[in-house]
Amino acid sequence: MDSVTKRYPDGTVAVDGLSLEIPDRTITVLVGPSGCGKTTTLRMINRMVEPSEGTILVDGVDVQKQPVNTLRRSMGYVIQNAGLFQHRTIADNIATVPRLLGWSKQKARARAEELMERVGLDASLAKRYPYQLSGGQQQRVGVARALAADPPVLLMDEPFSAVDPVVRKGLQEELLRIQGELGKTIIFVTHDIDEAIRLGTKVAVMRAGGRLAQFAEPAELLSAPADAFVEDFLGADRGIRRLSFFPSEGLELLTGPVVAVGATAEQTAAREASGAPYLLVTDGGGKPLGWSEPGSLPGAAAEELLPYGRPFVAGQDSLRVALDCAVLSPTGWAVAVDGTGRVVGVVSQETIGEAIRGAHAAGRKADVAGRKTDTEGRKADVAG
Ligand SMILES: Nc1ncnc2c1ncn2[C@@H]1O[C@H](COP(=O)(O)OP(=O)(O)O)[C@@H](O)[C@H]1O
Ligand SMILES: [Mg+2]
Repeated sequence: MDSVTKRYPDGTVAVDGLSLEIPDRTITVLVGPSGCGKTTTLRMINRMVEPSEGTILVDGVDVQKQPVNTLRRSMGYVIQNAGLFQHRTIADNIATVPRLLGWSKQKARARAEELMERVGLDASLAKRYPYQLSGGQQQRVGVARALAADPPVLLMDEPFSAVDPVVRKGLQEELLRIQGELGKTIIFVTHDIDEAIRLGTKVAVMRAGGRLAQFAEPAELLSAPADAFVEDFLGADRGIRRLSFFPSEGLELLTGPVVAVGATAEQTAAREASGAPYLLVTDGGGKPLGWSEPGSLPGAAAEELLPYGRPFVAGQDSLRVALDCAVLSPTGWAVAVDGTGRVVGVVSQETIGEAIRGAHAAGRKADVAGRKTDTEGRKADVAG
């Protein structure tokens, strides 16, 4: 988008001199308060709204120079509440564009079935009508319909804003998975900064009057907001949220204080000699049971143990999750487990604090490779 402005007939300037270079095959999020011009921007890309000034190029071709039907077929469009045709079955909704393109009924139906599976909808829903589905299921149908003709670009306007937080998180994970599999170029509009940070490879923060406040990767937004508006929009705990981009991989885990239930007195004494203030007691299979107070043997009844809180998955979860575990733990120590839930060690708040300081120092000389690690850490975090 090159210096794009939209002035509506009543004089409202919805978008003001917006220039953006949107990378392909990634998710770019437009985020900002209500009325800042996000929907107008999105709709100018598929020419549902015509710009007053400036040019929009897709793959180097001016959208104004393309037949509008061709352009729109190359761009799936998903909106809040899915915008499904209420009098058509789920399968027919998804098959809408293929049928318009002249596919046979059979081929369109097969495509609808394939897409239902891809977006996580049970095949038994194919013959239902939209009102017979939950909000989250309807949004999945909306995504499947937008993908039906396999367009390279997806435009999504607050698609998950009307569903509850739990369903929403599931839809977000699903979108990241689908994008990873299909490599679509997705432009995603939201007013929710957390959603933007979770989904976006790059995030464009817009401010009232349709102006661009900052266009950056999420980790950079959190560490270096361009101005007071962006900082305010990001919210108060951006330091903590930034930890989502740091992997827990390098954390030094102690195994000394970990002891299996029923250990002998000598074994326990050896563990206590490890210098940690508490012992973490596990069951025979290595799953955590709780913390033992200094001096009390871990043969003690489970109710005498302090709760271990929520463990983190070593290497997979971020430093944010590890810190949260330590903060929630009554001992101030976090429990690290492997993918199967078996304890691999424990780590103190102090050690996590050192890792955070180390990550910040490394971040200051962030190179391209470092950013890649950040992104992968975040995706893992989202998946977790
Ligand atoms: N058709 C229209 N005519 C006049 N003003 C409009 C029209 N559509 C949107 N606007 C105005 O343009 C501004 C941006 O709207 P919009 O792009 O919908 O913002 P957002 O999607 O960020 O909430 C708002 O002030 C809105 O009232
Ligand atoms: Mg809008």
